[in-house]
Amino acid sequence: MGIATNFTSVRMRNLPSPVMIFLLISLCGGWLKAVAQIPEEQAIEQQLPEQQTPVDVAARAVSLLSFVAVDYPEAVSEGSVQDRGLFRQTRENAELASQLVAGLPDRPGRAQLLNTLESLQASISGKEAADLVRRRANTAADRLAALYQLPRSPAEPLPAASEANTLYRDRCQHCHGENGVAEQPERALNDPARMVNLSLYDFYNVLEPTRNDAHDEAVDGDLSSRQRWALAVKVASFSAPQVAPSRKLAEQYPALVGLPGMAVLRPSELPEPARASLMWWRAHPEQTRALQHPLARAAGLIYLAQIAYRGGDPAGAYHKLMLALRSGYLPAREELTERDPALATQLDQQWQALREAILARAPANEVIEQFQRLLASVVKGRELLQPTSSRVIYVWAGILFITALALGVLLWFGLRRRKT
Ligand code: HEC
Repeated sequence: MGIATNFTSVRMRNLPSPVMIFLLISLCGGWLKAVAQIPEEQAIEQQLPEQQTPVDVAARAVSLLSFVAVDYPEAVSEGSVQDRGLFRQTRENAELASQLVAGLPDRPGRAQLLNTLESLQASISGKEAADLVRRRANTAADRLAALYQLPRSPAEPLPAASEANTLYRDRCQHCHGENGVAEQPERALNDPARMVNLSLYDFYNVLEPTRNDAHDEAVDGDLSSRQRWALAVKVASFSAPQVAPSRKLAEQYPALVGLPGMAVLRPSELPEPARASLMWWRAHPEQTRALQHPLARAAGLIYLAQIAYRGGDPAGAYHKLMLALRSGYLPAREELTERDPALATQLDQQWQALREAILARAPANEVIEQFQRLLASVVKGRELLQPTSSRVIYVWAGILFITALALGVLLWFGLRRRKT
């Protein structure tokens, strides 16, 4: 619990928001580990049907909830059912998501999540306002993803939509139409009003047979993860605006031109012009690469590495960490050394220490603490080389907060309990 104690003594108000949010994200992991004593993965696997890991089951529930959020407003309007079939399906999906979560191994915060899912079901049955149901379902999906450390973003850069051209034409077009313009409206993939509510990760999940039954195994059962991401980007391109956002917007919203933001965020959660910008950027990831500051890329990758580590995958964490070092830190190191040699030296040491700790299988709480320190230094470096205005910091922090939501809430309650 040393980690949480340190956090209370940090003068929080003096830290820039992104640093604070990143600290929050990372500290929560340590706090959770300490409090939860998360059970061994293997023991969990045995209790679940068909050898599905908790991550698989949680991902399926997240997918169900995402579609509850996007389908409900089409099924119910102003307290009356517009589409009976869709309404029934939405209710069943919410119920199934609840059951799946109830069957997952317990974690602190799961009881709260189950309550949220219960009230979600009640508000669906009560045909409550679409906005409320959508927000509830999305919040539940985000909390669930955070609780079970779902890796919702690839570590490698997103493939271009063009990489999926042939696949789309051969496997998808006869149902979904050229450029997503389908004959049957429920198969259309080009409606921005619907697609604005779904993240790239949601599209990806639709193409994972263990997570979604929209398609037969023959359609997407044999796809590689990279092919699924390429198809997700392709699908996103059907509802993207025609015109690229200005470069200035990329500087204003650094989290939207990199991972995990591009993969995890639903554009509808952002204010304009961030919303339209994300709709375009996520459809053209190959063009966003040059827009992203290398240290922002490093921060995103360290964040993903940490998720992998906490999810019990030290090899994957190491790989992502090295990717962060090579593709994010090293390209910026010279500039950083000129601006703040002490910070550069500190960063060199922190990278080295963390690599060694992972390879030497140091205790998890130590490794996570080192992740936190490294991440905080990288974010500090990024702020130094590419300062964001205070208004923008607010948006950025908000974006990252979405990712950290559940864990942040847990941390908050944990600290309060300790104080009283
Ligand atoms: C046999 C016809 C068929 C094929 C082939 C097919 N789909 Fe679908 N797809 C559907 C149907 C039907 C739905 C709606 C399912 C539902 O609502 O439960 C759907 C849903 C989706 C969705 C979710 C859209 C939304 O708005 O909810 C995406 C994304 C998608 N498909 C992408 C693809 C991709 C990519 C491929 C090719 C790999 C593909 N589909 C192949 C029939 C098909």
